[in-house]
Amino acid sequence: MQFDNELTRLLGVRYPIIQGAVGWKGSGTSSIAVPVSEAGGLGILTALAYENPDEFQDDIRNAMKKTNKPLAVNFTLIKSRQLDVDYYKKYIKIALDEGIKIAFTSAYNGFEIGKEFQEAGGCWIQKCATIRHAISISKKGADAIVIVGLEGTGFKSPEQNTTMINMTAARQYIKVPLIAAGGIGDARGFIGALAMGASGVYMGTAFMATKEFKVDERLKTRIINQNIMDAEYCKKIYNQKRGVSPSLAVGVIHSIPTVKEFIENIINDAQKIMEQFKEWRMFIED
Ligand SMILES: Cc1cc2nc3c(=O)[nH]c(=O)nc-3n(C[C@H](O)[C@H](O)[C@H](O)COP(=O)(O)O)c2cc1C
Repeated sequence: MQFDNELTRLLGVRYPIIQGAVGWKGSGTSSIAVPVSEAGGLGILTALAYENPDEFQDDIRNAMKKTNKPLAVNFTLIKSRQLDVDYYKKYIKIALDEGIKIAFTSAYNGFEIGKEFQEAGGCWIQKCATIRHAISISKKGADAIVIVGLEGTGFKSPEQNTTMINMTAARQYIKVPLIAAGGIGDARGFIGALAMGASGVYMGTAFMATKEFKVDERLKTRIINQNIMDAEYCKKIYNQKRGVSPSLAVGVIHSIPTVKEFIENIINDAQKIMEQFKEWRMFIED
């Protein structure tokens, strides 16, 4: 299956599949980012996953030895934890000096960081939790915007919507490529997101359940065994205020493949879904 859309062109990747930022120390590093980029998606090195800027620099160098495919960095801005532009200054300089061209920012507005990457010939993508934030970020000049739905991992607010509403509604107001996040973990979620107006998908939980993700294996086992019909679990995810739990994407995650297998499965299954659409004569014939 071939992809050539505004997002694959912006990022220089084969598939519009992005590995979400992971701020857990030792997890959101080259160990997951490199296999994702090598498999045709986009891997993200999350600055928060490192103890200090030197470790970040060493790992970027290590990553670049292992892949010549595009890689991105994430800066998660949390004012209450003094994770602001000043905190990231050294990390930003290192990323740019080492030749990383794609910056993702999340939580607060990452305009200042984004501008530095854009001025250096790269691009800036902001992750937002609400359509209102996404509209305001699009006016600040982001090259693309991730919107995370309520189904996803992370902070929840009453202003948040589901992934489906985010994509279908935001598309009316925002012209830059939109990237869907929240509860996506298989080909149906992927193709569905594209149909709703996204140019690509961004997944966190699904990549946690891959062989390469560095986390206690017991958590991976919990992900694949989690019953999505458990009301307590759904309640927990929708009400989550802090911390990080695997999202409602667990409903479609039943095995622990390698990253390559996971991405290939999505692409192959997506192809089958598209063929089924043809059988259903959902496309106008010539
Ligand atoms: C273990 C884990 C850690 C995460 N850490 C961060 C982080 O530090 N910064 C951030 O912006 N998002 C973080 N996220 C959120 C993901 O980048 C992404 O937005 C989210 O996982 C999408 O929803 P999904 O899990 O349903 O795919 C984390 C997600 C997971 C699963």
